[in-house]
Amino acid sequence: MALPDSIKALGEQIDEGGEVAPAPELFEAYDVFAAELAQIFTQPWLAVDHASRLVADGDYVRADVGARSVVVVRESEDKIHALRNTCLHAGYRVCEAEAGNAEHLYCVYHGWSYALDGLLTDPLLRPQMTDRSRFRLPRYPLRIDRGLILVDLSQVAPEAPPAGPIELGALPDLGGRAVARRQSYKTTANWKRMRQFLWEQPGLVFGDGCDAVIELGPLSFVALRTGDAALLRLNPRFPAQCEIEVVELPSAGSAGIGDADPLGDALRDGNDAIAAAPLDRGFCEWYWRLMAPAA
Ligand code: FES
Repeated sequence: MALPDSIKALGEQIDEGGEVAPAPELFEAYDVFAAELAQIFTQPWLAVDHASRLVADGDYVRADVGARSVVVVRESEDKIHALRNTCLHAGYRVCEAEAGNAEHLYCVYHGWSYALDGLLTDPLLRPQMTDRSRFRLPRYPLRIDRGLILVDLSQVAPEAPPAGPIELGALPDLGGRAVARRQSYKTTANWKRMRQFLWEQPGLVFGDGCDAVIELGPLSFVALRTGDAALLRLNPRFPAQCEIEVVELPSAGSAGIGDADPLGDALRDGNDAIAAAPLDRGFCEWYWRLMAPAA
């Protein structure tokens, strides 16, 4: 994919070492967003949620990144699949619910059904499709590690490609924890400005700082504070819209942040300022490192 001129111009500014001044198209243009989807949003790994989402057979959780959608579904304890959530019939999302439990996946648009491993089982009104073994929702590499559901959106195939390495560093095992709060926030900021804002102050999920941060790919991290943990995932939806998902995982006996919502308060008070904030040089250099291979 050829990079849009506005991205290449930013790269030239960085390479020349001069002033960095991103063009307005970098925050508004759909071709920029599409290039970012290919070069950044789909890079491994994305921390989708906590493993407690998948305790029973049939449990599933959906995660979206731009126009890309994945549904992680538990067929059995040792068979958990990350399926491309795109119907083989006409491309709509098979799972519209954000999470749930089902015996099979049913696309409401025209009634096609899939088994929990993605195999097409009932192509309604297409009885001529007798050999359905060749039709299945493609799969992404998946890991359940230290209590988190991790998906690699950079590879997809009929059989899940082997999962590559992942660096979890000092992340404690969060598997036995209960989720104290799961919240999503809608914002009208471009994802780059929101990422810069959140990654500069990851302790905002606790309100008063954190002890450590473990980054999981370009769009998710876990913040740690005195034993408590919070998973944050950025979900760019459109050039001028992104969502934030937070899963709070306090340690045993900790009350976590209780009823407080420091991140929500900061987003409500600061949305306009965040949506207009300039990108600093450090962010632009990080961005260009990821975009440059496509230049
Ligand atoms: S798009 Fe799913 S059945 Fe038509």
